[in-house]
Amino acid sequence: MMIKNGLNKCLQKKFIVNNKLFYSSQAKPTRDSSYAIINNNDIEHFKTILDSHSIITDASEIDGFNQDWMKKYKGNSNLVLKPKTTDQVSKILKYCNDKKIAVVPQGGNTGMVGGSVPVHDEIILSLSNMSKIEKFDPVTGVVVCQAGTVLETIDSYLSPMGYTVPLDLGAKGSCQIGGNVSTNAGGLRLLRYGSLHGNVLGVEAVLADGTILDCLSTLRKDNTGYDLKQLFIGSEGTLGIITKVAMITPPKPTSVNVGLFACQDFNQVKTVLSRAKSQLGDILSAFEFMDRPCIDLVLKHQQVQDPFDEKSPFYILLETSGFNETHDSEKLNSFLESIMAENLIIDGSLATDSKNISAFWKLRESITESLGKEGAVYKYDLSLPIEQFYSIVELMRAKFNDKANVVGFGHVGDGNLHLNISTPKKPYSKEIFDMIEPFVYQYTSEHRGSISAEHGVGLMKPDFLHYSKSNNSINLMKSIKNTMDPNNILNPYKVLPK
Ligand code: FAD
Ligand code: MLT
Ligand code: ZN
Repeated sequence: MMIKNGLNKCLQKKFIVNNKLFYSSQAKPTRDSSYAIINNNDIEHFKTILDSHSIITDASEIDGFNQDWMKKYKGNSNLVLKPKTTDQVSKILKYCNDKKIAVVPQGGNTGMVGGSVPVHDEIILSLSNMSKIEKFDPVTGVVVCQAGTVLETIDSYLSPMGYTVPLDLGAKGSCQIGGNVSTNAGGLRLLRYGSLHGNVLGVEAVLADGTILDCLSTLRKDNTGYDLKQLFIGSEGTLGIITKVAMITPPKPTSVNVGLFACQDFNQVKTVLSRAKSQLGDILSAFEFMDRPCIDLVLKHQQVQDPFDEKSPFYILLETSGFNETHDSEKLNSFLESIMAENLIIDGSLATDSKNISAFWKLRESITESLGKEGAVYKYDLSLPIEQFYSIVELMRAKFNDKANVVGFGHVGDGNLHLNISTPKKPYSKEIFDMIEPFVYQYTSEHRGSISAEHGVGLMKPDFLHYSKSNNSINLMKSIKNTMDPNNILNPYKVLPK
């Protein structure tokens, strides 16, 4: 799926109450006046570092970089810089740090929390021109590439050599590996391959003062003190700009099956999950769920068919990936027999060829795009214990009644719920935000969940961070930020509360 700036006409709009912009129930932060305002001398200086094609000052060209794909967050930058080398990134940051000019790193701009666009007039440092795959070792499966390489490009490069990327997400055609690492993106196969904290072996990053930090190890094992690369994984561009990534990639499975199952209630979904884990074990590669309102939305906006004759409240998309077709089918068939014998599903269908597999995945992967076509969408990305997983969707549905469409889907196999609330054909409204926040965060905190399972904190959630992090943790995060970026030039207003 390809999502590019402006291509996706998702209709979300910022809204104004008492002349303050709101992106959540909190107001947009005011500009920190200690940052310099860029002038012609600065641009002349950047011309000594970059060629003229890599410096964008034309307002209409900058527009797409100033705004996120949901059209929810909009900044006001006058300058986009597109370096091609780590050395250029270093020179740009050194200059910005000396002059106290704020900078926002931008990858594919597919993020969900407003992290990749400026809040005010920060310089946008786009990694798009740094898209070289530098090395691949066919024995270890380690790939090294520049941060701006698009995820799908890496996968297409690896595929003929029998390898694949260890993460997969609906935005793969646009998101970049540097953006994935900076957000610690989860996605559809985390269940199988684990998080980027485990799969990323090394990172090259440029610190706020221009120092190039070479942590680009390609080793699986390296216990030489603090694992510094981990600081950049999930810190959303606030601690440094990732310029290169070394990542371990798994062999590409040769036998893939996808099952779509319908369930009567969420208890059945839970039990099927537990059976899938114990009976399918190493071949289980995805376990996603979606409720019926998600399917209705996808049917409304995409060219897809209702998967079964009867409608059901819940659907599971289960994928197995392995290397021995006979072995995998036997395992899957005996799993199917057992869940049917126990009446854990009311309907089911298996896809073994690539056309049907894609059709099943389309149902799941196009939920986001379909929601975007509806109206303002209020998106929440929560980690919750399985016992409380779906109750929050029911609570919100009861709260909103006919006022909004409340849907639940996501990576149930990883305990990650996507709770989305849409108000068809309506702009964002403070009234709706106030019905959701901080209630959803309080609920999550009460159940020791996380207010951001995979999308990050960005501009949307700094004021709510305390629902998932203790004061001591937030203070330590602030002191790490202060040590690494004392002038606070990197992605200001994001992640950390004031
Ligand atoms: P951006 O959106 O450009 O940036 C994200 C953050 O990283 C920003 O804070 C930015 O400043 C920072 N950043 C970007 N590049 C760098 C760099 N080189 N160095 C330092 N900081 C940098 N996310 C998931 O986790 N799981 C999903 O399943 C998932 N599915 C999605 C499906 C769709 C259809 C869409 C549109 C999005 C989805 N996302 C998902 C969200 C998004 O795609 C991910 O967060 C992705 O990792 C962002 O990558 P990007 O290159 O677009 O980064
Ligand atoms: C997904 O899993 O599809 C995403 O994280 C996108 C979303 O939450 O909309
Ligand atoms: Zn997701």
